[in-house]
Amino acid sequence: MQKFSNSILSNLKNNGFVVLKADDIKFLNKVKKDYYRIARKNGFNGTLESISKISEKKLNQLHIDFNKNSLDSNFNLINSFVRSLKKILGKKIFIQRQPYLRAKKYNLSSTATIAHNDYDFGHSHRGFNLWVPLFDVKSNEGIYIYDLSTSKKIYSSFKFDCHLSDHIEKNKFDLKRNYINLKFGEGIFFSNLCIHGASVSKKKINRVSTNIHIQNFIEPINEKSSELFTIAKLKKNLFYKQVGI
Ligand SMILES: [Fe+2]
Repeated sequence: MQKFSNSILSNLKNNGFVVLKADDIKFLNKVKKDYYRIARKNGFNGTLESISKISEKKLNQLHIDFNKNSLDSNFNLINSFVRSLKKILGKKIFIQRQPYLRAKKYNLSSTATIAHNDYDFGHSHRGFNLWVPLFDVKSNEGIYIYDLSTSKKIYSSFKFDCHLSDHIEKNKFDLKRNYINLKFGEGIFFSNLCIHGASVSKKKINRVSTNIHIQNFIEPINEKSSELFTIAKLKKNLFYKQVGI
């Protein structure tokens, strides 16, 4: 266990991201169950196949409903990975009040997420994002990420005179993309400074993932506020629980 957690910390330090395995799948199963509940309320069963048949409007409604009404999915998500997260973040943290859901339909252009880092969206340079697929991701059809040093290199030569993704392509940084094929039960935890995105599905595969921002309590939260975050503490060294309002 000691060796395992050391490698998590060194991978995170060296790359800016690390793949985590759930310590307890029952929490992730609760998140998935809640996703299915909200999908059924929107008139479909939530399987990857069922996403092909629903309209873009319905898909947007699903996102809104999950982001507003999921039941404890924020804590279920982070407590799935609690042994790793407590080593990385410590006992007192800021945690996003509701996680984001991303249900991606392969034939919608919004399936792609253009390259960006979360710092540019007002998140702390000392904060992290935990991205967890609700179904296995295969054949490079999920998230891609650039490690921290490549992300810094990309930005150091960026003049903000074109879109970041064009700058990446022009300078052949895209060769350094890391595609992360995660199974259900795994997640990628990455720095808000790491550039990431998601390609358009070439293999007509739909995708559902959820992600949440978390960070240590003593770190600055940048432009975000208590509207986005609440405070949590590790209770009995086992699970994070909300302590803030
Ligand atoms: Fe992002």
